[in-house]
Amino acid sequence: MKTAKLYSFFILALIGCINTLNAQLDEKTETKITEIISKMTLDQKIGQLALRGTSSRTKVLPEQLKQDVRDGKVGAFLNVMKTDYVDELQTIAVKESALGIPLVFSRDVIHGFKTIFPIPLGLAASWDAETAKTSARVSAIEGSSFGVRWTFAPMLDIARDSRWGRIAESPGEDPYLASVLAKAYVEGFQTDNLADQTAMASCAKHFIGYGAAIGGRDYNTAIIHEPLLRNVYLKPFEAAIEAGAPTVMTSFNEVNGVPASGNKWLLSDVLRKEMNFNGFVVSDWDSVIEMIAHGYAADEKHAAELALNAGLDMEMTSKSYDNHVKALLKEGKVKEEQIDFLVRNILRIKFQLNLFEKPYRLKSHTGNLYAPEHLAKAKAAAIKSSVLLKNENNTLPLAATTKVAVIGPLADAPREQLGTWTFDGEKEHSVTPLQAFTDAKASFTFVKALTHSRDQSEKKFEAAVKAAEQSDVVVVFAGEEAILSGEAHSRANIDLPGAQEALIKAVAKTGKPVVLVIMAGRPITITNIIDDVDTVLMAWHPGTMAGPALYDIIYGKSEPQGRLPVTWPKTSGQLPLFYNHKNTGRPSSVESFVQMDDIPVGAWQSSLGNTTHYLDAGFTPHFPFGYGLGYTTFALSNLKLSKTELTKAETLEVTVSIKNTGDRAGEEVVQLYIQDKVGSLTRPVRELKRFKRVKLNKGETKTVSFSIAAKDLEFVNNTMKSVLESGEFNIYVGQHSASGLMATFTLK
Ligand code: GLC
Repeated sequence: MKTAKLYSFFILALIGCINTLNAQLDEKTETKITEIISKMTLDQKIGQLALRGTSSRTKVLPEQLKQDVRDGKVGAFLNVMKTDYVDELQTIAVKESALGIPLVFSRDVIHGFKTIFPIPLGLAASWDAETAKTSARVSAIEGSSFGVRWTFAPMLDIARDSRWGRIAESPGEDPYLASVLAKAYVEGFQTDNLADQTAMASCAKHFIGYGAAIGGRDYNTAIIHEPLLRNVYLKPFEAAIEAGAPTVMTSFNEVNGVPASGNKWLLSDVLRKEMNFNGFVVSDWDSVIEMIAHGYAADEKHAAELALNAGLDMEMTSKSYDNHVKALLKEGKVKEEQIDFLVRNILRIKFQLNLFEKPYRLKSHTGNLYAPEHLAKAKAAAIKSSVLLKNENNTLPLAATTKVAVIGPLADAPREQLGTWTFDGEKEHSVTPLQAFTDAKASFTFVKALTHSRDQSEKKFEAAVKAAEQSDVVVVFAGEEAILSGEAHSRANIDLPGAQEALIKAVAKTGKPVVLVIMAGRPITITNIIDDVDTVLMAWHPGTMAGPALYDIIYGKSEPQGRLPVTWPKTSGQLPLFYNHKNTGRPSSVESFVQMDDIPVGAWQSSLGNTTHYLDAGFTPHFPFGYGLGYTTFALSNLKLSKTELTKAETLEVTVSIKNTGDRAGEEVVQLYIQDKVGSLTRPVRELKRFKRVKLNKGETKTVSFSIAAKDLEFVNNTMKSVLESGEFNIYVGQHSASGLMATFTLK
């Protein structure tokens, strides 16, 4: 006992020393920054606030750009993707400018740099922090070799509407899953030492509520009840900042009438004061001057005044700060102390990146671009992210001898399989499903049938049908080209584009089993063809190693391990649609629902269910949040709570048994949800609070345990304070958000 006490004393003492040391280091840094600022001219201060955009396709380095660096007019660059340009610009900044303040080079390194991982919505489907962290780590190792030390990731916008193009980059609809991923991404990009030259400063974006745009229309208005903003949208940003994210990017949208880039309440009161953020805030592309279009700034100068006073440190691409700070200072509309405060935040992160000591790209660091271990990790991530939505008659996995008709526009689309936000990934390195089938010498015939996902021509369907007739199974690779999701690419109708549905129906008519593999940046509504296919595998845009990953899944070397990070709608008319919705006063139910076709002609007005639903689309999604099948089955039993009454100081222990009831080993994601049955604000019908991945051999049973502290039951109500309210709670432990064993406990 004495040893244990001694050990814990030693650990506490060590932590104390480290904290003191960090505090001293911080103090030393702040002193250095004070010294630098004291020597800076106003022009040099304004220069640090400028993030200059360039194009990775810039053929020459403009002399004016170099002169601006020499004059101290640039603090950071975006998209300088030629290493000799990076080296030249940094040399000018350090050796030729008056104060030698180093530049920081930035890039959107989102889900890979050269080796591309699944899109972030796919990585979210892995329900696995390690997978997300690995994607970020490999991205940073590869990207930092080009001198990139700041990435505009992770994107943490909660998304509840699959029409929104940027759902592809999002962590999905749930704040808990998004928070787990946020922490993992920050750790992966940064390691525990931001000074490491393979580390990248992360950037929690887009602050805030970008995913709540009305109608899923990108850049559109976000009206978010403040408790909802705090209970849902802020959560992943809190997690990222707690994990050490040193920068935050503002979103294009207005939040409740005030554009994020000029939102003092958001940037100063919430982000800096409440969330203790002490890094720097960067605008999104021209979002400062877009406040004019928003009708929030009268002109560019007013936009600069609003952003500066809101606490927006660095202006991306637009030049309102360059053009107007001096006048604003002279007119007393902005104080020089505020400018110094913004400069300090930027210099602090440059010190954390150790750029003053080591400003130059580490030339010996090659980044191991496309290294076998990077490709292997990208393949593993693609397997972990793939979600099996349907698998009638266990059509998958296929036996090696199966004769397969490989059909469809996404079977051999090296660029499309990389997905959105992959500027540096090269399609020449993509291994497509066709390539993987060929490499494996599988028994198959291939008919693309459509040139791309939007192709409307049915000219080649006959060849596809013939191939299907001559095969045992048809595997259709369909979905969206990469350009149909991502920024500015929202879709009102999210069915399969082009003639893909017709192609699926044509080959299904042969009577052969059809496996549909979807590559897309969002859930695709497949109600029109779900009965024509035996199996549906959602692969998202799986990245460089799509082919080998999907080959292994299709032939059973690996099982698909993903679970839905977003609710999958039957039709876009249901959107926004999410599992953690409110119950309403007239909750839908099977008993009360009357399907439109079942309504008698001339029915009396009040004869219908009078609950919340659609007459045509009902009230359930096609597949619920958290859903996904594997190649075996599991049974949960024996849900036990350590107590049924809990004080606010206690922790609840929850255990459940899970058995592999199938005929092969497999992995399940056991999910724990709570329902706060009565609150001073209405509460969601379910909220994800924990999840665990569990591997089980055939016939094996394990006990899975979770701990729920009272803090996990807190929420923000109309007082805008986090409250913990006594009352009854349901606990659901299951395999997705619409199932599970239930127990109840009371919080005293
Ligand atoms: C874009 C995006 C943002 C990105 C930035 C720089 O418009 O909204 O996510 O990081 O510009 O490319």
